[in-house]
Amino acid sequence: MLTFEEAIFRLKNEDVVVVPTETVYGLAGSIRSNNAIKKIFRLKNRPFFNPLIVHIAKINDLSKIAKNIPEKAWKLANFFFPGPLTLVLEKKSESISNLITSGSKKVAVRMPNHKITLKLINKLGCPIAAPSANPYNYLSPTSSENVKKFIPELENAILDGGECVLGIESTVLAFNEKNVELLRHGGISIEAIESVLNEKLIINISNIRKKDSPGMVNKHYSPKSKLIICQDIYKAISLYPNNNIGILSFNKRLSIPVIKKEIVLSESGDIFEATKNFFSSLYILDSLNLDIILVKKFQNHGLGLALNDRLLRASSRLLT
Ligand code: TXA
Ligand code: MG
Repeated sequence: MLTFEEAIFRLKNEDVVVVPTETVYGLAGSIRSNNAIKKIFRLKNRPFFNPLIVHIAKINDLSKIAKNIPEKAWKLANFFFPGPLTLVLEKKSESISNLITSGSKKVAVRMPNHKITLKLINKLGCPIAAPSANPYNYLSPTSSENVKKFIPELENAILDGGECVLGIESTVLAFNEKNVELLRHGGISIEAIESVLNEKLIINISNIRKKDSPGMVNKHYSPKSKLIICQDIYKAISLYPNNNIGILSFNKRLSIPVIKKEIVLSESGDIFEATKNFFSSLYILDSLNLDIILVKKFQNHGLGLALNDRLLRASSRLLT
């Protein structure tokens, strides 16, 4: 583990630091250091075509990184920052390298809601670029332990900030001339964004698989146990008679004897508690060498939409 001063020292010296946020842990480097940014891609085994989110510590720093910022973006930033919302804006090329944006003229920006990381960015005096701190195509980590387990090289580069309070990545939005587009479901619901904007979002979620490079496909996928999304758990169990089965359930414990391990996300049916426990529970289930993990879909609104999206990605290996 690192002290705050050691983390600043590493960032100033073009190295990477694992930082806590309210969503998931990030693997960060200074936006001014191409060496650090390259190291992020290498450690994650992430293809260079998948751009990184820039993290700022003050709303006004948006205009240091982006230009021609739409009114609607300012409105959303003023309402939701700091928080789990990422805005894709026209980048200021002099501040943001093509490495960070994968050659795009747009940059993704967010202001994380975590005291330590905000202080870190302020002290460094420069924003940090950070993807989630997991190997490419594995589950996002919501604790420092889960970062270490899968990227051991980072053991001595972690600034520990406890368990992530939200537990799912930020919602990503982009802007065209007329509309606001949802690029990724996340911690801020569609309903909350639409009510601030007083208009409907255009849903434009891309399938990153299309662009995936063949070399990445058989490496480190996830979860390692096969994740199956089903409507009826009992029926699904009967379809896999000789398998070691685990269950991830929202609020009901089924206690079926043939099940090796069952994790209930929130006994009281609280979607926030369930979201907080979601990735860490999948990490536990995936460590048990199960053949399959069965899970029922969540409600299709609010945070449930984001959880369903991550389930789909985990079951079809589309995680970033
Ligand atoms: O909550 C979060 O967003 C976490 C924490 C660490 O901040 N970060 C995170 O980063 O989830 P990552 O790299 O795992 O996912 C970033 C997402 C990807 O879907 C990426 O394609 C999209 O943001 N993105 C980044 N830059 C973009 C850009 N310039 N244009 C469009 N999409 C972009
Ligand atoms: Mg990710």
